[in-house]
Amino acid sequence: MPATPRPGARKVLLTGGAGYIGTHIACALSATSRRSVCIDNYHNSSPRALERVARIAPGAVEGYECDVRDATRVGEILAAQELDSVVHLAGLKAVGESVAKPRLYHDNNVGGTATLLAALQSTRARRFVFSSSCTVYGSGARMPVDESSPVQPINPYGESKLAVERMLADLVRRDPSWRIAILRYFNPVGAHESGAIGEDPRGVPNNLMPYICQTAAGRRDELSIFGGDYATADGTAVRDYIHVMDLAEGHVAALDVLERSPDGTLLTVNLGTGRGHSVLDVVKTFERVNGVRVPYRVTDRRPGDAPVCYANAALAKTSLGWSVRRGIEEMCRDAWRWQSANPDGY
Ligand code: WQD
Repeated sequence: MPATPRPGARKVLLTGGAGYIGTHIACALSATSRRSVCIDNYHNSSPRALERVARIAPGAVEGYECDVRDATRVGEILAAQELDSVVHLAGLKAVGESVAKPRLYHDNNVGGTATLLAALQSTRARRFVFSSSCTVYGSGARMPVDESSPVQPINPYGESKLAVERMLADLVRRDPSWRIAILRYFNPVGAHESGAIGEDPRGVPNNLMPYICQTAAGRRDELSIFGGDYATADGTAVRDYIHVMDLAEGHVAALDVLERSPDGTLLTVNLGTGRGHSVLDVVKTFERVNGVRVPYRVTDRRPGDAPVCYANAALAKTSLGWSVRRGIEEMCRDAWRWQSANPDGY
């Protein structure tokens, strides 16, 4: 049973908190007696997801419909709260869409962060955790990718994440009252063990795991495996899949570290497992642990995909005292439990 947030518990502002990652972070925060003030424009999420969080962790989250680019509304919400820290997830995250609409991604991801930071100046909140991405590394990094690898994003999504990273580094240099953790996600998959919250993409899923889940559930005829001729063990591309609850707990660890760090701290850390799995690995593991079939066809490579991408996870261990606790089997089992219990999402 999650710990009930203590009545006077300080609160964490969770932007994009109704989304896939945000709802899992709200649960992980609640398990450490922190309450979340969630702002979300529900563009890629549903307020029903917050109702599910409340079922898992009563009193854990209060939700407000708000776009981080709405300075007035953000200011009103912040003025009414006692906040000391922020986890900033709000933003667009579809790589393909970013190529088609680069201005939209810059306006949302970079402009939205600038508006949020300006609004925070009038609050006491100076501990800031930012949702960045391994896509800042681009496709040329040596494996395993460590935080000193060159950053060369190859799409507007990755460019927007890197632009925010640089904005935050500049902020803490100019105003050392801030303490900032930049977390570079690898491939978040899976769901909370309850099956009450999970990944609920709008329309046809771009990402592998929700597509596998919907195929196994009969919502899709077959999975297209993009490329079977990569220089990997089985010819399919390799990624570092990380359980979304491990990712969420990595954010809590980052907040704990910022709380005991000096003003002016800036951390940049990979959140990955350090292990790569191929697309076929994931498909076969998913079928085996869940006793289901995932019909698939190997098709052409998807433009822009890297053959192999997985993290060096050592810095997270030394700087956050955090490392993953869940493996690919648990990711597949938990993803299927969510899909089975929620065939049409929220
Ligand atoms: C994974 C593998 C595909 C769908 C993601 C996010 C990005 C960032 C990094 C956080 C690839 C293959 C996929 C399908 C397939 N995360 N695939 N058939 O491209 O690594 O990027 O993680 O910021 O935002 O998008 O993840 O799940 O799209 O693809 O064969 O129907 O699965 O080719 O090899 P990706 P993905």
